[in-house]
Amino acid sequence: MTKVLIATEKPFAPAAVNGIREVVEGAGYELALLESYSDKSELINAVADVDAMIIRSDKATKEVIDAAKNLKVIVRAGAGYDNIDLEACTANGVVAMNTPGQNSNAVAELALGMMVFLARKGYNGKAGVELKGKKIGIHAYGNVGKYVANIAKGFGMEVLAFDPFVKKEDIEKDGVKAIDTVEELYSQCNYISLHIPANDKTKKSINFDLLNRMPEGGILVNTARKEVIDEEGMLKLMEERKDFGYISDIAPDCKDEFEAKYDGRFFFTPKKMGAQTAEANINAGIAGANQIVNYINNGDTTFKVN
Ligand code: 3PG
Repeated sequence: MTKVLIATEKPFAPAAVNGIREVVEGAGYELALLESYSDKSELINAVADVDAMIIRSDKATKEVIDAAKNLKVIVRAGAGYDNIDLEACTANGVVAMNTPGQNSNAVAELALGMMVFLARKGYNGKAGVELKGKKIGIHAYGNVGKYVANIAKGFGMEVLAFDPFVKKEDIEKDGVKAIDTVEELYSQCNYISLHIPANDKTKKSINFDLLNRMPEGGILVNTARKEVIDEEGMLKLMEERKDFGYISDIAPDCKDEFEAKYDGRFFFTPKKMGAQTAEANINAGIAGANQIVNYINNGDTTFKVN
């Protein structure tokens, strides 16, 4: 019998697991579950006999892919697939997929929620500031960026965006001002919301020079990946610009320095929380299950990323 594994170090909401089970068992397959595991050996043991797997930010390294001798398809229930060794997948004839757009609203809501939290000084009783009238720059206008733009407009913010892969007219039809260069975006905006993927080109690309272009009181909001930040440059900026703030969904490696020196100027989630809603789990998990069934039964490779 075809066996599908859900391997989630950070578990899905129960309703999402039920929904995945319905799809998988409805197709006549068997579902196995590995949740909240703490050691990679547990993952390696669990993949030994599976035909397909659904993961989140779980690290599907070469070691994991090589250990999954029957694996045909792996689906990252979410957008970013920087946690999957795509070369190992391709070398082993495994199709890797993501589920773009399925958890985007959840990530966007968290971005704005964290902005309000910092603007209101963590609700500490002191006077904060409002988002209305401020400029937000969307760095990469994909699924999450679009949702952030839309919610930000609801707050009365002015929305700008830079994305070299999206046509200017497609950005502007959403009532968002398309900006020609990344430097110009950072120079103009009080908030920057980051939505670039983590890859060889983007890692450490958000550096001191770029961030230092932001006007006084500038805040970087990172619901993308911590790896895209040049942390050395970020710390230099925090030191030199007492007005600057950083919000991130998952703490940077240099979190201890922030905690020691920059109280009130940052907020970090303890675990990656952007997509951690029942709705996002249901949308991404069930989409992943359907993609697996469609691939195994019909060879459908929509959303293949390798
Ligand atoms: C994504 O790339 O979709 C998000 O980072 C969500 O990650 P998660 O599934 O680990 O919450």
